[in-house]
Amino acid sequence: MAEQSDKEVKHYTLEEIQKHKHRKSIWLILHYRLYDLTKFLEEHPGGEEVLREQAGGDATENFEDVGHSTDARELSKTYIFGELHPGGRSKLIKPSETLINTADSNFRWWTNWVIPAISALFIALMHRLYMAED
Ligand code: HEM
Repeated sequence: MAEQSDKEVKHYTLEEIQKHKHRKSIWLILHYRLYDLTKFLEEHPGGEEVLREQAGGDATENFEDVGHSTDARELSKTYIFGELHPGGRSKLIKPSETLINTADSNFRWWTNWVIPAISALFIALMHRLYMAED
């Protein structure tokens, strides 16, 4: 029945997905959808290793960073077999990652003005020395 098709999407918890990161079963999350890539490992043009590293977890960011082609995206659809349980979505962003990101942007904010300021001081000093020699 058509009205039942939506209900047929199978949801899995993060805990269950995390178990599938061994040789016999490689599952990945991309945009909250679940992919069984066990049979695709050897065919992946980007190699087995990158998929194994992400197995049992969320690979969305890495998948997007690579800039996969439209063909790759089409191909990926054939491996979808379910979705992450909506309750597990918030768990995908690890607090430690947020911390690193914040520290990282603080670092950039500092270097944005500290490096130019030190450079300006250095140039002023060199200029003074040069003028003093004259
Ligand atoms: C369903 C999942 C995936 C499919 C169907 C897939 C498919 C493909 C295909 C067809 C290519 C060839 C280049 C292209 O057409 O874009 C490729 C390259 C690549 N993929 Fe994937 N991929 C998947 C997931 C991933 C994930 C999760 C990662 C990283 C963690 C990844 C990393 C790479 C890398 C590094 C390359 C090589 C890029 C290059 O040499 O320029 N892929 N993939």
